Amino acid sequence: MHVTEAVLSRRSVRSFRPDAVPVEVLRGVLEKAQRAPSGGNVQPWNAHVLAGEPLARLVASVAEVIPQGRSAHSPEYAIYPPELDGAYEARRYGVGEAMYAALGIGREDKRGRLGQFMNNFRAFGAPALMLVHTPRYMGPPQWSDIGMWLQTVMLLLREEGLDSCAQEAWAVYQKQVRACVAIPDDHVFFCGLAIGYRDAQAEVNRFDVPRAPLAEAVVFDGF
Ligand SMILES: Cc1cc2nc3c(=O)[nH]c(=O)nc-3n(C[C@H](O)[C@H](O)[C@H](O)COP(=O)(O)O)c2cc1C
Repeated sequence: MHVTEAVLSRRSVRSFRPDAVPVEVLRGVLEKAQRAPSGGNVQPWNAHVLAGEPLARLVASVAEVIPQGRSAHSPEYAIYPPELDGAYEARRYGVGEAMYAALGIGREDKRGRLGQFMNNFRAFGAPALMLVHTPRYMGPPQWSDIGMWLQTVMLLLREEGLDSCAQEAWAVYQKQVRACVAIPDDHVFFCGLAIGYRDAQAEVNRFDVPRAPLAEAVVFDGF
């Protein structure tokens, strides 16, 4: 598979087949992803990968507190800046609307929307979930390094015929995550990465997620 094919065939998959992912495959992907670049070669990423019983335990422990609503949320960082506005906010809103439209869930259907969102906390049915953390003192440059590593992982997964969905949503249940996996207290829990094989028929995996035209993001000068 060429890099272009991996990039273009990657999408956030929100409905997985139950087929297990061989641990040797995941190990191979993560071994290669260690080659991801990072400022000063700090390699600030740390992760636990869950499957089977440990993953079922995490899903069950979060399911227990979901009925408490927001009072059970305890994110350790702002998932989106409160200032998010303009094109950035429109894109965030747009992907949600595109997804709900594909699922036939209308704007007024708060229950339907919440139900779809709550699928996050089953890792969308994925058989494996990676939980990513980093020391609290790491700053924006190191968080950006973690992003590079995550994308490297996601692209290498494509090469193995695997799919993924990065999931910041788990951050709101970091207490439950910490109760299930040993994340050091002086580390911040960043996100999950659901991993498995996509259900190619599921509408939630088929809608288009547009991107801004290149000119909105990049300026070329001196060519
Ligand atoms: C760090 C990160 C966290 C994300 N968290 C979530 C999440 O919690 N739930 C979700 O459904 N999608 C999540 N996404 C997926 C984004 O919504 C998605 O990448 C974006 O809309 C672009 O769509 P695409 O990945 O299908 O190309 C996350 C993506 C990234 C990079």
